[in-house]
Amino acid sequence: MQLFLDSTDVAVMRDFAATGLVDGVTTNPSLIAKSGRPMLEVIAEICQVIDGPVSAEVAAVESQGMLAEGRKLAAIATNVVVKVPLTREGLIATGQFTREGIQTNVTLCFSAAQALLAAKAGATYVSPFIGRLDDHGAQGMDLISEIRAIYDNYEYDTEILAASIRSASHVTAAALAGADCATIPPDVFAALFKHPLTEKGLEQFMSDWAKTGQSIL
Ligand code: E4P
Repeated sequence: MQLFLDSTDVAVMRDFAATGLVDGVTTNPSLIAKSGRPMLEVIAEICQVIDGPVSAEVAAVESQGMLAEGRKLAAIATNVVVKVPLTREGLIATGQFTREGIQTNVTLCFSAAQALLAAKAGATYVSPFIGRLDDHGAQGMDLISEIRAIYDNYEYDTEILAASIRSASHVTAAALAGADCATIPPDVFAALFKHPLTEKGLEQFMSDWAKTGQSIL
């Protein structure tokens, strides 16, 4: 499973990239606003830190505007993936980006029918929003399973990118449901490393080791 960071914080990204476990990055207009920085500059910086796919979202709502913005974003670096909303206009733009060889991440996906259309448009990634569906009273994770079944039935190459992840258990559930990737906020990514029994066990091992008075080196 590919693990992406859902963030625009370049310092945090450098820190996580050092683990060798970050496969890519996703951003969105809210995260760009939170950074308080110019979008093109942020995306260029992220692309210098992360070799894998870096999703940069268009702001236009009509396909022609999305195409103009997406081409500009894609020109920043070869690993930029143009993120477009799952709307009729967004899917028209996705089809054209696909024909131009520009990678896409179709975002704000909340139903299997929408995901089917994204795959037909040739999307590189589709982003079902798990947490927001849970907030809405649905079972977000069921959507991942449904999309997995549909994509497998028809051998669509579009990768399922579980988004709006709120907890470590969301990540494991998405992996079990067959998501190809998950995009994870930094605090949740940090939580993936941890288990109280790991900490307790390590403390015990270190204490017992100290009693031996030995040194490996
Ligand atoms: C994904 O591409 C989005 O940027 C993100 O996962 C949205 O998460 P949120 O619902 O926590 O805002």
